[in-house]
Amino acid sequence: MSSEASQSPARRPTEAEMEEMTPDQLATLAAELDDVVVVQNLPKFSVPGTRAEKRAERSVAAWFLLSGLFAALFVVAFIAWPHEYVAPSEPGYQMYALYTPVIGATFGLSVLLLGIGVVAYVKKFFPDELSIQQRHDGRSDDVDRRTVLAQLAKAGQDTTIARRGMIKRSVGLAAGVFGLGAGVLALGGLIRDPWKGGDKAALWVTGWAPDHGAKVGNGFEPVYLRRDTGALGEEIVEEFRASGERALDGLRVRPEDLDAASMETVFPFRMSDLKDPKKLDHVLKESDVPVMLIRLRPGERVTLRSGQEDFHYGDYFAFSKVCTHLGCPTSLYEAQTNRILCPCHQSQFLATEYAKPIFGPATRSLPELPITVDDEGYFVARGDFNEAVGPGFWERKS
Ligand code: FES
Repeated sequence: MSSEASQSPARRPTEAEMEEMTPDQLATLAAELDDVVVVQNLPKFSVPGTRAEKRAERSVAAWFLLSGLFAALFVVAFIAWPHEYVAPSEPGYQMYALYTPVIGATFGLSVLLLGIGVVAYVKKFFPDELSIQQRHDGRSDDVDRRTVLAQLAKAGQDTTIARRGMIKRSVGLAAGVFGLGAGVLALGGLIRDPWKGGDKAALWVTGWAPDHGAKVGNGFEPVYLRRDTGALGEEIVEEFRASGERALDGLRVRPEDLDAASMETVFPFRMSDLKDPKKLDHVLKESDVPVMLIRLRPGERVTLRSGQEDFHYGDYFAFSKVCTHLGCPTSLYEAQTNRILCPCHQSQFLATEYAKPIFGPATRSLPELPITVDDEGYFVARGDFNEAVGPGFWERKS
C-alpha cells in the first residue's frame, strides 16, 4: 500500500466552506473523506477533437444506431408480421412459422447491440483511473452524501459524455425506440383481438373440434385418438401408400392397447391428415391438443361430472393434459391412487372424480374429452372439449 493511501482522512469542512467549493473540489473532498487516493486519472483523448477521437465516437454511435434499427424492426415485425395460426398445409405457413424467431431475433439483437454500445463507450472514453481506498464501515453522514453526489457528477464529466452530441443522440434514439418496443410488447395484447372468430376463437376451440377436418356427408370425418410413435409425417405417409390402412395400426389407439391402470398421451388424427406430412408432424406440437387417455382398474368407483356422464368409454377416460393452473403438462399418472400430478407446482387431480383438483394451486378440473369406439374398434372423439383448456383467463365462465 502506498504511503498516500495510509495517510489520515481529510478534515471535514463546515457547511459554509462547502458552499464556497466548486464541484471539482467537492469531488476531490469526497475521495479524501473516503480515504480514497487517486493514483492516476488519464483521459483517453488528452487532445480533444482529434481524428482518432471522432472515429471512436462514430464507432460507438454506430452500435447504438444499429440497436435502434433492430428495435424498430422488432416493433414493425411485432405489429405487422402474420401471426394468426396457419396450418402447415395452407399458404402462408412459412411466414407464420417465422413469427416467433423474427421477433425474438430482432429484440435480442437490439438488447445485445445496446449492451455492446455501452461497453464500447466505457472502453473508449472513460478515463484510465487507478484509485486506492481504505476500508471502513458505518453509515455515511450528510457531508459524505453530498460530496458523493458531487463525485458522481464529476465522474459523469470525466466520461466526456456532455460534449459528445453524436453519441448522446444515438443512444437517445436507441433507448427511445427500445422503450417503444417494450411499450408495444406490453400493449400488444390490447391491440390484437383474441376473440376474432367469435365462438371459434383459438382460446375456445382445439384441434379436436370436428369441423377442423374434411366434410363427410352431413358431418365431418372421424377424429381418431393417435399416439406418438416417433415416426415422422413423411414416414407415416410412405407407409400408408405402401401398405394402406394397416400402416395406421400402431397409430390409432384401440381399447385393448392399454393395460388396466395405465395412461397414454394421445393427439387428434384424421384420415385427411395423410395428405400433408407436415400436418401430421405439426399436430404433435399444438399446445392445446394433448390428452391423457387413462384406463382405470375394472370396478373402480368413479364420480361423473354433471353433464359429462357419457364422456367416458367404460373404464377409459380422456382428460386434457394441459394443467388448469399455469398450463404445464400434467404428465404423471399415479395408478395406485388414481392421481394425476402436475410437476410444475404439484397440483393433483383425481382421475376417478372427473379430474377435479384435490391438492395444489389448480382450482379447476382438467377438461374431459368425450370419446367412444367406432365400428372398427378405434377410439374416436365425439366432439371437442366442452370448455376451454388450460389456465383461466378473464372471459372464461367455467
Ligand atoms: S402449472 Fe400445474 S400446478 Fe402449476
